[in-house]
Amino acid sequence: MRRYSTDYATYQLIDISRKVTTVVTMTKTSSSSSQGSSGSQRIDFDALYRGESPGEGIAPTAKPPWDTGAPSESVVGWQTRGWVHGDVLDIGCGLGDNAIYLAEKGHTVTGLDISPTALTTAEQRARDAGVEVHFAVADSTKLEATPTRSTP
Ligand SMILES: C[S@@+](CC[C@H](N)C(=O)[O-])C[C@H]1O[C@@H](n2cnc3c(N)ncnc32)[C@H](O)[C@@H]1O
Repeated sequence: MRRYSTDYATYQLIDISRKVTTVVTMTKTSSSSSQGSSGSQRIDFDALYRGESPGEGIAPTAKPPWDTGAPSESVVGWQTRGWVHGDVLDIGCGLGDNAIYLAEKGHTVTGLDISPTALTTAEQRARDAGVEVHFAVADSTKLEATPTRSTP
């Protein structure tokens, strides 16, 4: 029997310059079998958001477990304590509820996710909330950066 677990409740707040805050959703995914072997399994998040099986032996789900339709407690806590500064980059923004919440609080927010299907919903939720969030499909493990000259 294959067991599957996803630890999706861990967030990181990176605030290096007080000008940009990066919200990272850490998604630790693991699977194990009754034989006792364990290892990581690639999860197709777009399939998951489409309501299809995201990987071998993993049942489809009608709604991702993290889809509460509300910002996470930790993100609300950071905002309430004044720890979120300037523009926000939400990596792995999913259905956009954290990004939308921070945009409602006045931040300029960019949300990145590997799943186009998730971002279609995120865009709709942002429209419904009446806020502007820039969403873009991106694989955070393959982000490209343009080198800049270091300033003297
Ligand atoms: C556990 S969900 C959390 C979604 C959202 N941050 C929330 O709190 O509701 C993790 C998200 O990370 C996205 N993701 C996973 N791997 C990614 C990658 N390499 N690049 C960008 N997004 C990724 C998934 O599509 C999923 O939406």
